[in-house]
Amino acid sequence: MSNPYSYCIEKMIRRNKVTIIGAGNVGGTAAQRLAEKEMADIVLVDIESDLPKGKMLDLSESAPIYGYDVCLVGTAGYEETAQSDIVVITSGIPRKPGMNRDDLLRVNTGIVKQVTEAVVQKSPDTILLVVSNPLDAMTYAAYRVSQFPRERVIGMAGVLDSARFRSFISEELDVSVENIQTLVLGGHGDSMVPLPRYTTVAGIPLAELVSKARLDALIQRTRDGGAEIVKLLKKGSAYYAPSAAIVEMVESILKDKKKILPCSVLCQGEYKVDNAYIGVPVKLGRKGIEKIIEINLTPDEEVCLKRSVEAVQSLCTFVDKVL
Ligand code: LAC
Repeated sequence: MSNPYSYCIEKMIRRNKVTIIGAGNVGGTAAQRLAEKEMADIVLVDIESDLPKGKMLDLSESAPIYGYDVCLVGTAGYEETAQSDIVVITSGIPRKPGMNRDDLLRVNTGIVKQVTEAVVQKSPDTILLVVSNPLDAMTYAAYRVSQFPRERVIGMAGVLDSARFRSFISEELDVSVENIQTLVLGGHGDSMVPLPRYTTVAGIPLAELVSKARLDALIQRTRDGGAEIVKLLKKGSAYYAPSAAIVEMVESILKDKKKILPCSVLCQGEYKVDNAYIGVPVKLGRKGIEKIIEINLTPDEEVCLKRSVEAVQSLCTFVDKVL
């Protein structure tokens, strides 16, 4: 048997298939979470060829104990990714000492371009779920390179940022995280826009339960959520919550749940945004983005969103130059 995974590849044709590009902590943990939920067969790809193979072998060996039947393939190539239902792109490098934002943007745009070209060749009908940073700009890069319709190029950020906000509110009020509903819009960065007006605790508006000063502190902590983890981990950035967010989006798509989730999408007139990737609430189903939900914003919230869009747009102008 020339390809040790060929038995798997035959089966994969009949089942949901998710490819994850990048076998780092986010990619590896996303694979684990998806496998444990038996959501799909999974192909993990990385340029470092032994790493995805090792992770997927290890994950396969936990299947008998944990009890899941999915095919798990690790590879450095794209052959095995053919006809994936969803491709999650986590590739990219974190900022290194001495690098400025533009350097990082240039390197990661190059990586996302290369990956997207390879993915699209093998899976022309797939849905791209982009996780690489800077998130909104990298999703835009994947959109441009793939030439897919906007419904099939989606960025993961709002689910993560909202989860952080929910977890901080739960801690503050000492109530279940499950009671908390919220929305965080805008770009995935300092300019993100948590919306307390659309935040409820078991249906009760958040403002009735938390003082303005505490609310401001929770919002700030949410904005700094990624950096807080980086500081604690010292090496690398968050991956438990990011991978959980990926799984929620993948599940809504594969099971056609039509969940409304904040995701980075190309707004073309919605929210008065002209052709930019930005986090807004969308309905996620089997076709990808099935609807962009437009909610009313106060003038103050509109200003915040506009500022966030401008921050993302300046990055996208740079991406345009690199592509
Ligand atoms: C974060 C990075 C991964 O927010 O974007 O943790």
